[in-house]
Amino acid sequence: PTAPIIAPSILSADFAHLADDARAVDNADWLHIDVMDAHFVPNLTFGLPVVKSLMKASSKPFDCHLMIEDPERWAPPYAEAGAYNVTFHAESTNDPVSVARALRAAGSNAGLSIKPGTPLEPYIDILKEFDVLLVMSVEPGFGGQSFMPEVLDKVRAARRLVDSGELDLMIEIDGGIALDTIDEAAAAGVDCYVAGSAVYGSADPAAAVDQLRERARA
Ligand code: DX5
Ligand code: ZN
Repeated sequence: PTAPIIAPSILSADFAHLADDARAVDNADWLHIDVMDAHFVPNLTFGLPVVKSLMKASSKPFDCHLMIEDPERWAPPYAEAGAYNVTFHAESTNDPVSVARALRAAGSNAGLSIKPGTPLEPYIDILKEFDVLLVMSVEPGFGGQSFMPEVLDKVRAARRLVDSGELDLMIEIDGGIALDTIDEAAAAGVDCYVAGSAVYGSADPAAAVDQLRERARA
């Protein structure tokens, strides 16, 4: 896939009309699917049965962001169900490499996410096992929070590692991305942009996707 990737987050969609809201962003690159378990984060969304049903209603690549405990157990079924990418949190497991290998073996890409306060350095050596690095730019759990520009130091560090050939993955950012924050994320070297409220809070979600992509390219 070629950057910039725009991934609308259905966390900000209408959960009673997920199929319609997914189809409303047909011009998006990926659909971002926020799975929360009320343990790893203080919020609960939906799980595999809902995601499987939504897959039947959308032809977009599914970018599943698992904000859950025990990804060893719960992550591979998303890959088996046909997710394009399955991202889990570094803070949620002692063995991220095993989870990444299980995801790839099950046929999806593997993503590692780090919360705003989690440093990048301890994970650099294992990132060769991953296709995506998801840098959270808000505390995971809720849409509509303010972008935290301080996480862009981690994006810049990852960008350098990719550009120097040490790593081969896509750098994704999630949280508070909108027309007024996407430029600085782009300048730091982000490839993939998640946007929830900026897309679904707009009267015209598809137009919002196009505007974000244009701004990221500029
Ligand atoms: C937060 C989720 C995000 C959320 C982003 O825990 O991971 O994907 O939907 O929403 P906005 O774009 O509104 O910050
Ligand atoms: Zn997310």
